[in-house]
Amino acid sequence: MTKKWSPNSWRNMPISQVPSYPDAAAVETVEKQLATYPPLVFAGEARKLKKQLAQVAEGQAFLLQGGDCAESFAEHGADNIRDFFRVFLQMSVVLTFAGSQPVVKVGRIAGQFAKPRSSDTETKDGVTLPSYRGDIINGIDFDEKSRVPDPARQEMAYRQSAATLNLLRAFAQGGYASLENVHKWMLGFVSDSPQAERYEALANRITETMDFMRAVGITSETNFALRETDFYTSHEALLLGYEQALTRVDSTSGDWYATSGHMIWIGDRTRQPDHAHIEYCRGIKNPLGLKCGPSITPDGLLNLIDLLNPENEPGRLTLIARFGSEKAGENLPKLVRAVKKEGRKVVWSCDPMHGNTITAAGYKTRPFDRILKEVQTFFEVHRAEGTHPGGIHVEMTGKNVTECTGGARAIRDEELQDRYHTHCDPRLNADQAIELAFLVSELLKKGRADVPHKQVVNG
Ligand code: PEP
Ligand code: CO
Repeated sequence: MTKKWSPNSWRNMPISQVPSYPDAAAVETVEKQLATYPPLVFAGEARKLKKQLAQVAEGQAFLLQGGDCAESFAEHGADNIRDFFRVFLQMSVVLTFAGSQPVVKVGRIAGQFAKPRSSDTETKDGVTLPSYRGDIINGIDFDEKSRVPDPARQEMAYRQSAATLNLLRAFAQGGYASLENVHKWMLGFVSDSPQAERYEALANRITETMDFMRAVGITSETNFALRETDFYTSHEALLLGYEQALTRVDSTSGDWYATSGHMIWIGDRTRQPDHAHIEYCRGIKNPLGLKCGPSITPDGLLNLIDLLNPENEPGRLTLIARFGSEKAGENLPKLVRAVKKEGRKVVWSCDPMHGNTITAAGYKTRPFDRILKEVQTFFEVHRAEGTHPGGIHVEMTGKNVTECTGGARAIRDEELQDRYHTHCDPRLNADQAIELAFLVSELLKKGRADVPHKQVVNG
């Protein structure tokens, strides 16, 4: 019944959110070139991530996924990557400690360049130009030349992804991520950060535990889990020509993998079951994410699950709920119930960003209390349905930006203009990201207190 899949079978289907390149031959040349380049990630790594996500699906681990809304060519510096990675590690240590569970770490990074837009054009002061679609497609500057889609940008994005990944691998495996550095990750944290004291207290407890472990012979020299971490990359698989060029057969299994990142996801605007994006994703073996917004119905979701995970493989599919704080309570339970009733093994994750975007003082922003409320609702729904609140998916940066309002520093609408740097959607800054991790850690702790024996029974 299922039609034959190939890396280019999506080209026969209807497609949304495609840029109009002025020169089709130039696009083809770039795609051909990219197809000769080395893979960015390996199939074995994607399989390892899938196994870890299977643990999340079973309630034995928690998924932390986060990073920029859109990476940019202009901000491709080592400091930026390090600052992001450091905050990400801090968040994950907070969550690991609270949940006493492994945290699966997946960045929106090293490939997160293409953006879906609600409108094909943007109008400013009476001038209408094509919308900015991410640095892999066109430029953000509001002038005619920048906004013309340029295929050469795909090559830039590939090279930036490779360099970013190279540094991330070094950080993750080369000692920076060692738990012995849990205090050092504090450096660079503004000393008056509202979260600094709390983080330091936690770091002290970890250090004490490590001292104890050292005393009984478990050190970072003898145990690599203390000095290294697994860190994975992910992005929205939007620009399918680019994805196809990096789709390769794994020589071990004979299966097709997207080698542009470990995990890729399908956006809320491109998840039509008979369209190109679902077609492409169903044929590759990587772990997949599927954004679920307010327009998705239980039957529609089950149909997409059938297409994307016909073998009901745990870890293959992460459903990323992004309803908005107002709608989550109504929309989520019926989906969770339907998926549970049909016995589908999925990871449920919460993206509390994309349903909570508003405009204030002329800026797109997201109030921190709405972000938090959606996460709380997500946890409540899963507790009520007896399912596992598997993870969070956030837009964040390691920098001290002012893009989302609220948080412990109570960023006000008037302050958005101070350091509003995002290329697309507003991100949590370092303080807000860690504050969110602490709040999620409380929800995780509460969950553990409510069902103390669940883990054992499942195990
Ligand atoms: C995103 O994750 O940046 C995004 C565009 O999300 P969504 O598809 O959920 O709107
Ligand atoms: Co976004």
